[in-house]
Amino acid sequence: MVCNEIYERASVRFYKDEPIDDKIEELIKAAIRAPTASMLENWFFVVFKSEGVRKKLHELILKGHIEYYGKSKEKKLRKKFEDGMFFAPCYIGVFVEKTGILDEKYSQLELIWAIESAAMAIQNMMLKATELKLGTCYIGVANFPDVEKEIKKMAGLENFFLVGLISIGYPGEEITPRKRKKRVEEITKWV
Ligand SMILES: Cc1cc2nc3c(=O)[nH]c(=O)nc-3n(C[C@H](O)[C@H](O)[C@H](O)COP(=O)(O)O)c2cc1C
Repeated sequence: MVCNEIYERASVRFYKDEPIDDKIEELIKAAIRAPTASMLENWFFVVFKSEGVRKKLHELILKGHIEYYGKSKEKKLRKKFEDGMFFAPCYIGVFVEKTGILDEKYSQLELIWAIESAAMAIQNMMLKATELKLGTCYIGVANFPDVEKEIKKMAGLENFFLVGLISIGYPGEEITPRKRKKRVEEITKWV
C-alpha cells in the first residue's frame, strides 16, 4: 500500500553496492501510472547502469554539486560522494520528448505539461522504490546546462528535455524522514 510510503520516503545519498536490475521494470511500471497530460505519454526512461557509464555520471554529478555549492566545498563533497552516492548501482534519467506535441498552438504549454507529468512519474517511482525498500535521490544539478548536455549525449537523447536524474539503490544509511520547516497552516490559504 503506497500511501504509507509518502511518510516513510527520504532522500538517500549513501548506497550499498548491490544490483537492483530485477526491480527496474516494477519501478517504471509504477512511474507510468502517473497522470499524463493529454495522454501524451511522451516520457522516456533511461537506465544508467554499466560501470563505465556510472563513472562518467559520477564525475558529472560531482561537477554539478561543486558548481552549486562552490569550489571551497569540493574536497568535502568529493569525499561524501565517494563514500555514498557513487555506490548507487543505477540511475534513472527521466526525459520528455520535445516533439510529438499535439498542437503547434499549444506546444509550449504541452511541453510544460509533459514536464509536470514526468515529475509525477518520478514521485510514483520514488514511492514504489520506498515500498521495495530501495532509496532514491533526485539529482537536480543534472540540469546545469553543461552537465545536462553530457547526460543527454550519454543517453543518445540530444533532442529531449531531461526532467530528472534519480539515483536508486539499497540504502547504506538509515532512512529518517526529514522534518518540514513549514506547517500546513503557513502554506495553505482557503478562499
Ligand atoms: C527537483 C529536485 C532537485 C533536487 N536536487 C538535488 C541535488 O542535486 N542533490 C541532492 O543531493 N539532493 C537533491 N534533491 C533532494 C532534496 O535536497 C530533498 O528532497 C530535500 O532536502 C528534502 O529532503 P527529503 O527528500 O529527504 O524529504 C532534489 C530534490 C528535488 C525535488
